[in-house]
Amino acid sequence: MESKRVAAEKAVEYIRDGMVVGLGTGSTTYWAIQKLGQKVKSGLSINAVATSINSENLAKELGIPLISISKIEEIDITIDGADEVDDEWNLIKGGGGALLREKIVASFSNELIIVVDESKKVNRLGKFPLPVELVKFGYEVTQKKISKLGCVTKLRIVDNKPFITDNGNYIVDCDFGNIDHPKDLHTAINMIPGVVDNGLFIKIATKVIVGYQDGSIVDL
Ligand code: A5P
Repeated sequence: MESKRVAAEKAVEYIRDGMVVGLGTGSTTYWAIQKLGQKVKSGLSINAVATSINSENLAKELGIPLISISKIEEIDITIDGADEVDDEWNLIKGGGGALLREKIVASFSNELIIVVDESKKVNRLGKFPLPVELVKFGYEVTQKKISKLGCVTKLRIVDNKPFITDNGNYIVDCDFGNIDHPKDLHTAINMIPGVVDNGLFIKIATKVIVGYQDGSIVDL
């Protein structure tokens, strides 16, 4: 928890008055949103765009002003977590199921700061099963096509029911083992009809902040 908190709070130091800020999703970003809430209370003036209903609710509770994504041309800085970060800053995201909104927000952010604890830093992606968001219609067929790319797929189940994303879709977690060519895999998965998007974020991060249990951070 300490490692997540220190990384997340460091990222908030980059936020300045007047910025539009993207709020990621997850237990690490939680700390960034908390810190941002404190700063807003002390007079920081920003507008925020949330990547999930959970983050939106948290921002509302903390009094962080929210702006609709439809009303803005660009986001100055987005702070988000990741499930894995490789040496080239490719990411696996979507452990919390918010990958689609996270990718949309990241795609028009001038800066994407990724905040992680030390366990998320890997040489090669793939130990964490890759989340893929797919539409409900014909999902069994879509799932089969994804597994033909060389993975074991599992429909995400929460409380004995299929997990539903904020966009009303399913998530399939895909165990590929080591992912040697993340960019090619990203394209191959997204070519399958029924797939909405997958949790590979290819070279979109502009900064990675890693937090350690002893409270130290490495700001890359
Ligand atoms: C949400 O869907 C994810 O992309 C999260 O950003 C990612 O799973 C990291 O979450 P934690 O910070 O909770 O580990």
